[in-house]
Amino acid sequence: MDIIQFFGRFHVLVLHLPIGILMLAALLEIHCALFNKERSKLCNLIWFWGAIAAISACILGYMLSTGGGYSEDAVFIHMAFGISVASTAIICWLFFKFKKTTSKILTTLLSCLQLFLLFSTGHYGANMTHGETYLVEHAPNFVRTLVGFEPHQEPRPPITAIEDADIYLDLIRPIFKANCISCHNDAKAKGKLNLANIEGINKGGKTANTWGNSQLEKASYIVE
Ligand code: HEC
Repeated sequence: MDIIQFFGRFHVLVLHLPIGILMLAALLEIHCALFNKERSKLCNLIWFWGAIAAISACILGYMLSTGGGYSEDAVFIHMAFGISVASTAIICWLFFKFKKTTSKILTTLLSCLQLFLLFSTGHYGANMTHGETYLVEHAPNFVRTLVGFEPHQEPRPPITAIEDADIYLDLIRPIFKANCISCHNDAKAKGKLNLANIEGINKGGKTANTWGNSQLEKASYIVE
């Protein structure tokens, strides 16, 4: 039993609360500022609970990250954005609660900043869970090239004779793509194993270097 990991996994549930609550707070502020509506005092309460939810998501996210399995760079950027969401939420709460004058421009700017940070944090978090290619997987080619991805590859012709099949491209890659790369990709390499490309497969995972020759011989014997 690992109590830190037990609580850490609730990050995936709790993270939706700051998204909903802080987005509501920011949109209400922008709406009131743009359309000259009277601002309800309830908005302060929404900012407060949004900040609490963001802080909770940060703490649980940190607990989850101690379990490893994610690339350090991916964790770092998601964590940095997550902490900035929580800090901005606290600043917004204090600012709107205690401010004496109402500047519509400042209100709109702060609320837009909060929305931008929320989207960025969510985006980097989702990249870690679903892989960086998830959003562009079914995108048209012009969208893919616009955001720096290769255009879709032509589908490989169906195999008619098994001797003509490319072992990796026709047999192994479709299986890994369907079953494995959601957890073993560039951003999230569970067991330090990246099955998204041939280099990663050849490199192996965290136990790759602990396999002695005798074990490899035994393994190839089993395969035969
Ligand atoms: C739901 C997520 C998930 C999926 C899907 C998944 N794995 Fe894993 N895999 C893991 C985790 C987590 C570990 C690390 C386990 C550990 O370290 O105790 C792991 C470890 C491994 C390892 C050991 C790496 C090492 O060197 O320690 C291999 C090999 C592996 N997976 C192969 C596969 C293959 C092949 C598939 C697809 C058929 C697959 N995995 C699908 C989560 C997943």
